[in-house]
Amino acid sequence: MDSTTANINSDLPNPPLGVGAFKRYLVTAALPYANGPNHIGHMAGVYIPADIYVRYQRAKKTDIKFVCGSDEHGVPITIRALKEGVSPQQIVDKYHGMIKESFEKMGISFDIYSRTSNKIHHETAAAFFKKMYDDGLFEEKETEQYYDEKAKTFLADRYIVGTCPVCGNENAYGDQCERCGSSLSPEQLINPRSTLSDAIPIKKKTRHWYFPLQNYESWLKEWILEGHKEWKNNVYGQCKSWLDNGLQSRAMTRDSNWGVKVPSPPAPEGGGGKVLYVWFDAPIGYISATKELTNRWADYWCKEDTRLIHFIGKDNIVFHCIIFPAMLKAHGGFVLPDNVPANEFLNIEGDKISTSRNWAVWVHEYLKDFPGCEDVLRYVLCANAPETKDNDFTWKDFQERNNSELVAIFGNFVNRTFVLMHKLCAGKVPKLHEDILDSIDRALIAEFEATKLKVENALEQFKFRDALFEVIDLARTGNKYLQEKQPWIVAKKLEPSTAPSTGGGLGEAAQKQIDNCLHLCLQLTANLAILVNPFLPFTSRKMLHMMKVVEKMLDWENAGKLKLLSVGYSLRPPELLFRKIEDEEVVTQIEKLKSGLVKPNAGSQLPVISKEPEAAPSAKLATGNLKPEIQFDDFSKLDLRIGTIVAAEKVEKADKLLKLQVDLGFEKRTIVSGIALHFNPDELLGRQVVVVANLAPRKLRGIESNGMILSAEDEKGKLHLIKPEEIINPGAGVS
Ligand code: 2FM
Ligand code: ZN
Repeated sequence: MDSTTANINSDLPNPPLGVGAFKRYLVTAALPYANGPNHIGHMAGVYIPADIYVRYQRAKKTDIKFVCGSDEHGVPITIRALKEGVSPQQIVDKYHGMIKESFEKMGISFDIYSRTSNKIHHETAAAFFKKMYDDGLFEEKETEQYYDEKAKTFLADRYIVGTCPVCGNENAYGDQCERCGSSLSPEQLINPRSTLSDAIPIKKKTRHWYFPLQNYESWLKEWILEGHKEWKNNVYGQCKSWLDNGLQSRAMTRDSNWGVKVPSPPAPEGGGGKVLYVWFDAPIGYISATKELTNRWADYWCKEDTRLIHFIGKDNIVFHCIIFPAMLKAHGGFVLPDNVPANEFLNIEGDKISTSRNWAVWVHEYLKDFPGCEDVLRYVLCANAPETKDNDFTWKDFQERNNSELVAIFGNFVNRTFVLMHKLCAGKVPKLHEDILDSIDRALIAEFEATKLKVENALEQFKFRDALFEVIDLARTGNKYLQEKQPWIVAKKLEPSTAPSTGGGLGEAAQKQIDNCLHLCLQLTANLAILVNPFLPFTSRKMLHMMKVVEKMLDWENAGKLKLLSVGYSLRPPELLFRKIEDEEVVTQIEKLKSGLVKPNAGSQLPVISKEPEAAPSAKLATGNLKPEIQFDDFSKLDLRIGTIVAAEKVEKADKLLKLQVDLGFEKRTIVSGIALHFNPDELLGRQVVVVANLAPRKLRGIESNGMILSAEDEKGKLHLIKPEEIINPGAGVS
């Protein structure tokens, strides 16, 4: 790997050395738009990791606040209102309630779930703007903007669509192309048209207030690129790319009647049809929610020893790492985020989640279909979280993780321990006989503390999957221990028929062995309850109930300890922690997903997805028949580079070919690749690949192909694209 492009960030301490003296934490989770229910992609990307982190910090007795709320302004809301034929207020009231309820049911433990339509938020956001205006921090500009004469409205953001100048997507929005991810302005769209009426817009003059981000560029470079090398690679990389490309002034106001009214001055009293840009007001929602929560809000926002952490999805990185910090800096008096652990996206059954196509698993529906299985979803979404790359949720994987990990490992261990304790120890915590502890017992005891440290270490670095695997691994160790000790076999020695002549000697020794085994398994169960609590809070509480202990036991400082349950204490009979998920349930969910799919309109850019099962491919086995030997010089003639696929389409009349646009950092290339039978064009967008960049061009079906992408075929004939372990800068050399 080229040393200049190697991952520089992953092993840096978090928080960085010397910045550890935080007295309190403020954790925010992205405010979801109240324009629809929430789906599992939201949960996996933002809310479950944030909740795990906060629950862990609370267990450590950290002074912490966890704030969130509905984002109720902006075009997403007004468009939804138009679609449903109701007012924006009705939309936000409906979805705010729904979203709030599903968060609560999933155990997302916000200290406050507010909404940006609250008075306190309007006042806070308007005052924030006013201070910046009074300090002369905006540029006031009259510009020509697109205007829909039929709808009598200016067309900003998602009110306008057109062809993306980067990838040719004909349905790119005025603020972003969802196909290639480029951030756009309406002026950049080719053939723009109004989302509201489909009219071709005209240009009309309007006055707005712009935030000159370029004035903060050198400060941002210093603060992020030098000061926050510990940020996740995807976050750091996106910031670097924005900063390298240079920042520009951005309008912070819009022509609309829905939103926080621009204060007077500069606007006339009542806003004069001007509102704050939704991305100006929404992050201020974190401040207003904290104000609503506590009188001590200023401690969390203004004292340097607060650690502010924003949990977000990758599409929000620029707003939380560049624009909002620049606003905070410009306004003055606020702390800046210390970390912004953004996740990538979750796909479902191999396809991008799409609310418009209804390709989603909605949380409120899951809760209805799987009552009592909240923790199962939390588990699967954490175990499969898109932490470093986009990941796929499949119902089969959901079933397998439940049945073979939660049921067969974690639940099984706890259940066996309780059943055996009731059978062999009269339902009470048996004594630990230190005189007969053996190496197997000691190895198990050592794992208590070791696992605690591993979980802590992973959580501090926002590596939630790793942390969860450590907890499951401890339960696995418990099962192995039980299997080695086999107290049920030892118990046979106590039965009068099998040990008639041994007197008290053997019986007593056997009982001591059983006692030790179950004592340790019970203490291990108590440890598991503490360690699993941030991830699976409902399960952890069921375990407390079985052990008849109070919530205080879940304090993190108790993890790693051996004496959590007192000897002689009687415990309840076991409750099943998890149930098996049956095949039929999975089939039903897959059917539901497919039948709910909304087919795109003819002519739309959205791909038609075939969900038919693939024909069973012929088995292919790797052979040892190598090609003739080559010298290193032969190999080094290849120029292999990392590229990002930014556009993909089928080649007409060629079943196997896809025409790809691949960004190599220094240029974009057209590459024609024979992978059409294995991938839908849409699922390739954003994927990183290894490109043979110095291959002579050749024409395929009349299209010049400039390179080749590398893939490997598995034993079933399925193609896998070769890619870097984590997203890195395109153009990086591969060696
Ligand atoms: O992307 C979204 O869903 C936005 N509503 C997130 C806003 S986060 C914050 F700035 F409020
Ligand atoms: Zn595009």
